[in-house]
Amino acid sequence: MRLLPLLLATALLLVPPPAQAAPACDARKVAAAARACADLLRGEERFVRDASDARRAQRVARVRDRLIASWYAAGTASDGAACAVTTADAGDTADRLAAAVADVGAALPGSTACRAAVLRTLAPLCRRVVRTELPLLRDQPDAHGIRGRTLARVRTDLTAAFPLAGCGAAGAAAADAEAALLRVAAGALGDATTRGLRALAADAGQEVGVAVEPGEVSSDPLYAAALDRETTSLTAENAMKWGPIHPAPDTWVFEPADAVVALAESRGQRVRGHTLVWGALQLPAYVENAPDADALRALMAEHVATVAGRYAGRIAQWDVVNEPLAGVLDPPTPDGLDDNVFRRLLGPGYVAEALHLARAADPAAKLFVNENGIEVPGPRQDRFYALVQELLASGAPLDGVGFQAHLGLIPIGQYPDRATIAASLRRFAELGLTVELTELDVTLVFRSGDLPSRLAFQCGSYRDAVAACASVPGCSGVTTWGLSDRSTWLRSFFGFTDWPLPFDDDWRRKAAYFGMRAALLEAALRDAD
Ligand code: XIL
Repeated sequence: MRLLPLLLATALLLVPPPAQAAPACDARKVAAAARACADLLRGEERFVRDASDARRAQRVARVRDRLIASWYAAGTASDGAACAVTTADAGDTADRLAAAVADVGAALPGSTACRAAVLRTLAPLCRRVVRTELPLLRDQPDAHGIRGRTLARVRTDLTAAFPLAGCGAAGAAAADAEAALLRVAAGALGDATTRGLRALAADAGQEVGVAVEPGEVSSDPLYAAALDRETTSLTAENAMKWGPIHPAPDTWVFEPADAVVALAESRGQRVRGHTLVWGALQLPAYVENAPDADALRALMAEHVATVAGRYAGRIAQWDVVNEPLAGVLDPPTPDGLDDNVFRRLLGPGYVAEALHLARAADPAAKLFVNENGIEVPGPRQDRFYALVQELLASGAPLDGVGFQAHLGLIPIGQYPDRATIAASLRRFAELGLTVELTELDVTLVFRSGDLPSRLAFQCGSYRDAVAACASVPGCSGVTTWGLSDRSTWLRSFFGFTDWPLPFDDDWRRKAAYFGMRAALLEAALRDAD
């Protein structure tokens, strides 16, 4: 079916079209196409409007400048080759696309009926242009002229669309139709360049989450605007952990955790709860020093019931137990489990106990165990797999596994590719569990090379991680551990000079961001087929 219009178009280009009546327009389809395209453009305008006044002009300029350039910067070869493409290259691409659109616009006369017909014809082109852009991403750099040829084809398609639309009659006022065409074509290109990750994730059926400190969001309008646009899910980076929320036996500090839940709910976003029982870090002294098993068991029961109970029905997924395995830098333990107070006093069964407590407190939440360094196959992943199998066999209410995905950090210097991450996710999903990447970031400190080449490499890692999840049934989403480099834990916790997240210190989208976007767009288009 799709070939027919193109053949017709080619014939019409070779032989001037005879005078013909404009085809009847399907008003519903035209309206839908126009709406879809207008929405795409409005998305960007809204984003710009939401930025703070002081920085709006700067932001508008930046968004415009980066539209096309950014899109092309998203390309990575599947073997992890560089994402980078020079600005000159991208600028040239932008110019050529703009010229193609303008050429078509200049040739376009039109009445209202004509304009409607043009819109109708261009509706599939909206999709098509976006589709043809995808292979460009994979063919960086343009060594074989593939990008140039594809652009020429897009241009031909746009040109062909005009006579096909039955708007051959000369002499009518061109302005309306031209403006409509430009809007539609810009919408098609805009789709590839300006929609946020939130919209793309919805199309792809995936969650994209961010771990936040609520104070950082409320004090930074650009952060708040970015969360609106880029995420479907929030995690409390610290606010729900034992130490922050329950620092002394009778002291509860709920405000920051409440604020995270409110932030998400006000935006229609999901919440991941993190975390109820974590033996390694941020555990108050009164828990660390619990005198015996009974005392600790009572503390854990009260804690889980209170925290999970408070947010019952509002948390999509709880990391009930965090990091049950021995840390990669800690001395190995005989059974591979972390040597923490829960393990010491309650035995390895503390994980199942915590899951039962969480299920009782919040029957609706999906209950997860969350772990680091299990994205790569090997003894650590095998040990975690055995733990999960034991939990399931014992009837513990386990629904999911969180892969932290601190890539490049655990294990140090390793950046698993798409196939490796996908195989790891699949191994656990095949047990009937939901899986997610829960704390994604990509450290650059253990990678050599100049910064631009490391940032380009990082783009590929982000793309691979998101694409891996989208390719595995049962993998429902990816959460990044922060959004802008300005507030990464890799700086504050480890003191690294690092740039591990999708946005830079000034809220500019990095190549990493476009890596995520390329993977989501690919998944969305695959789903649409
Ligand atoms: C980190 C936070 O980001 C830091 O602010 C805090 O000082 C320490 O914890 N794995 C986890 C997260 O499961 O809870 C950790 O978060 C990062 C590693």
